[in-house]
Amino acid sequence: MKFTPLIFLSILISLLASCEEKPKKKIDIKPAVEIVKKSFPQHSYSNIKEVHTTHLHLDLDVDFDKKTIYGVARHEMKNYGAKEAIFDIKGLKIQKVTLGHEPEAEIETNYVVGESDSILGEPLTVTLDSATTFVNIYYQTTEKSEALDWLDPEMTGGKKLPFLYSQGEAILTRSWIPLQDVPSNRITYSADVKVPKEMLALMSAENPVEKNEEGIYHFEMKQAIPSYLIAIAVGDLVYEKLGENCGVYSEPNLIDKCVYEFEELPLMIKSAEKLFGKYQWEQYDIVILPYSFPFGGMENPRLTFANPTLIAGDRSLVSVIAHELAHSWSGNYVTNKTWNDFWLNEGFTVYIENRIMEDLYGTEVADMLALIEFQELEIELKTIAAGPHPYDTHLKLFLDGRNPDDGMTTVAYVKGAMFLKTLETRVGRANFDVFLKRYFKEYGFKTLTTEEFENFLREHLLNPMRIKFNLKEWLYEDGLPSNCVKIESKRFNNIQALANKLALGEDIFKVKWKKDKIKREDYTTQEWLAFIRTLPDTLPQGTMALIDKNLNFKACGNSEIMAEWFVLGIQNNYKAVFPPMRKFLIKVGRRKFIEPIFEELVKNADNKVWAKDLYKTARNNYHYITRSTVDEILNN
Ligand code: BES
Ligand code: ZN
Repeated sequence: MKFTPLIFLSILISLLASCEEKPKKKIDIKPAVEIVKKSFPQHSYSNIKEVHTTHLHLDLDVDFDKKTIYGVARHEMKNYGAKEAIFDIKGLKIQKVTLGHEPEAEIETNYVVGESDSILGEPLTVTLDSATTFVNIYYQTTEKSEALDWLDPEMTGGKKLPFLYSQGEAILTRSWIPLQDVPSNRITYSADVKVPKEMLALMSAENPVEKNEEGIYHFEMKQAIPSYLIAIAVGDLVYEKLGENCGVYSEPNLIDKCVYEFEELPLMIKSAEKLFGKYQWEQYDIVILPYSFPFGGMENPRLTFANPTLIAGDRSLVSVIAHELAHSWSGNYVTNKTWNDFWLNEGFTVYIENRIMEDLYGTEVADMLALIEFQELEIELKTIAAGPHPYDTHLKLFLDGRNPDDGMTTVAYVKGAMFLKTLETRVGRANFDVFLKRYFKEYGFKTLTTEEFENFLREHLLNPMRIKFNLKEWLYEDGLPSNCVKIESKRFNNIQALANKLALGEDIFKVKWKKDKIKREDYTTQEWLAFIRTLPDTLPQGTMALIDKNLNFKACGNSEIMAEWFVLGIQNNYKAVFPPMRKFLIKVGRRKFIEPIFEELVKNADNKVWAKDLYKTARNNYHYITRSTVDEILNN
């Protein structure tokens, strides 16, 4: 190479630049070996660019005796001339594959099941001819169908009939339906489902409101949705209407409590529509599943799946419903194109949830909710930064070769929401709301990436307003930018002051002149969480007992508070929490509660033995998702 003056100059410049004293940004060392091994950035084997499903019809027979679904997945496809279609499957038994529309006109075709990957499952490659538009896959689920939770009668509320539900997000739908399991391909679906006569079947679709004689139900989802939102629940379920276009399903024993707990649902829907535009799914119902459901809620369209721990008896946990309802806009209507853009689903949803809560219950309540989440974010940012994947603190993720569930952290949820809150503050709420409505209209029933969002934001908000904003830092860099808005709460300061007094030995429950005794009902869930989190792990047993006697967190029925109290109990070696905690761990499978308790238990050798013993009973009561998390905690 000849050293022309230009090359010399550029070398000099780059040398100088490298000497410059810049604060060093952490460079992400991406796991190169993993990427080479399995590079499926969409977390799917499917070849949707060549051939993709537009409509899926399911014929399903739900057999509780064998804990198996026998199914036919009939794919109507747009084929751009492909000679093969690749579907995702995981733990499914494939019986045969046919081509052709009418059942009479079906012709068997060749297929190959490829090598299995522990995260992605297996590719199912079906031979087509280039004009094929109908592919029918005959299959059955197995005990390895991770999405499905088959519950024996004793695990249900009624204790007489079994229960089945599915959990598809992020990439588990392929474990109960052979399909192209990728969020960027939206499809409509229909289904004919046969279940035992005494049971009702529900899906994320137009639903029946009562059982029928035959136990055969037909479903239609006419709006195009991503595959992770296809869902089913079968059980002894009844329905109560709560408003014009909303209601709740649950087992008979819980239905009255549900009606009370969710009475304000019509108001919530109104509030969300006022803020973000028309509700696009006609009907909004909730189904309360058994306690094993691994989440508080899952936003299956038209039918949110919810955990019975939301039924606190005092409507104190309805923000989870605000959250799932919010997904009707962010997530279900406008969807992340890849799991690396997960924050577009959850960050927006936490932001919208908070706006709904503010609209209905005021700023004080909304701020407390946001502050509790923010505390969790601060802790998790530190944990991630010190761990093997420090770049997981970016909003735009890099999950190639990893389980997309690894991206399910408070970064997507809370950093995402804080980003939007900061933007809102910068441009003014009125302008931001106009922008959001436009965003939902523009991308409704579509999917997008973080980069596409970034462009849209510049073009329709920042540039017209001539506003400079550190977008790149928020989206693609570590940690929390310094312009992040600060959330303050006087009520938090007060309850934290109370906790501090208690920690210093004061009996805060003694009635003082003109003051009422402190009661649990006088404070919100978030205040009690802040209270418990302020208490140290060095409290005298007497102080723990004092709290226990006066506030009775361990049996208060509010699962958020109970779970937090159990953790504090373990930290302080307060033995009285162990019996109720044992009961809780055996009954409830919601991962958000179970995980931190087990994490705390394994820190001490005796507690670990206790946890392992209890887990022998509890494990069977958890969904695969919670089970695999706890397995990992206990086996390390
Ligand atoms: N969509 C999520 C649950 C989910 C995320 C399942 C990723 C599988 C993979 C749901 O909307 C959710 O966030 N639920 C939270 C609610 C909370 C943030 C209010 C839960 O269950 O705790
Ligand atoms: Zn969510």
